[in-house]
Amino acid sequence: MGVTGHGASVFRRMPNAEEPKIIQILAGQSAGLAAAVSIAAMFSYRHAFHAGNHADVLKHITLMALLDYLTRKDTALTVIDTHAGAGLYRLDGDHSQTSGEAGEGILRLAQVLRQSPGELALPIQRYRDLLASLNPAFAQSGDPHGLRVYPGSPYIAAQFMQGRHKLKLFELHPTDFRALSGHVEQLELGRSVSCALQDGFEALRPLLPPPSRRALVFCDPSYEMKTDYARVHTCLGEAVKRFPTGCYALWYPIIPRPEAHELPKKLRTLANRAGRPWLDATLTVKGSKLHTTAEGEVIRPGLPASGMFVINPPYTLHDELKTALPLLVDWLGQDRNASFGLARGD
Ligand SMILES: C[S@@+](CC[C@H](N)C(=O)[O-])C[C@H]1O[C@@H](n2cnc3c(N)ncnc32)[C@H](O)[C@@H]1O
Repeated sequence: MGVTGHGASVFRRMPNAEEPKIIQILAGQSAGLAAAVSIAAMFSYRHAFHAGNHADVLKHITLMALLDYLTRKDTALTVIDTHAGAGLYRLDGDHSQTSGEAGEGILRLAQVLRQSPGELALPIQRYRDLLASLNPAFAQSGDPHGLRVYPGSPYIAAQFMQGRHKLKLFELHPTDFRALSGHVEQLELGRSVSCALQDGFEALRPLLPPPSRRALVFCDPSYEMKTDYARVHTCLGEAVKRFPTGCYALWYPIIPRPEAHELPKKLRTLANRAGRPWLDATLTVKGSKLHTTAEGEVIRPGLPASGMFVINPPYTLHDELKTALPLLVDWLGQDRNASFGLARGD
């Protein structure tokens, strides 16, 4: 299976991030420079740098818990992944090794699981099993070095696509889209999975409500552009209006930035006004303050925390996350700021 690895960071630009040619040309012109710069910002994000970090651990454990419940019924479920990424990533490739982010996420988790094998909370067991199915050396030994491939949301969702369920993937980065298309083709799932080089925010509206009236919308923007915060809010607001009973799951970063701070509050208001139940799960692994080394170097802490906001969560989700989140804090926490949050509204 061919797996890709590439990218730049939402929080930290990588020195070797390659920009597509068209963006370099656009950014070199004076007319529409602001627009070009924000397009360039979007295209500079590559999830390969972040695959398997602590945010992915929270995101993918939640996604699997949602899919596990929602695909139990025979009635067709439409899964819409608005920001799909490349689908599969190398953990032993340059991008992952440069950022080292997986070391604070899945690799750290795998190390703990190896040292203390035994019965696991169901959501973590499910996630571990998926990683083992992709990584035979890890499955055999439990050694984190055996983890070479990390599944993105499209690959995870595809594992649940038996029967009549449908998976619709959207990705705007041309290189990641090419990789995604190749990975989808290799899965040989026929017409149950489709992918498009399209803006996921725009693509969502006409798909709702789906014919079977059952959908999971997974929305995972890079927030590389400041406008993403407003766009997710507007997009989810419209989606809930068009299709109030759909399940909507959104990932968001917790960083010291006003738009990021406001987003979960706005989402709670949105869900409350629509009269829909919601769940908000957060995982903090470290504090967000800059610190200075003895040599005077200022260290940025990287992404300290993130959250998953779910509108119309299955009734099982709260209890599942309640078993998993305290363990993730123990295992992935790096300082005294490590904590989790689990709130809900009806
Ligand atoms: C955080 S990554 C997605 C990771 C993926 N959901 C996963 O869990 O494996 C966000 C992706 O969205 C893409 N993207 C950014 N803006 C987009 C848009 N408006 N529509 C679709 N994709 C977009 C980026 O190129 C990037 O690959």
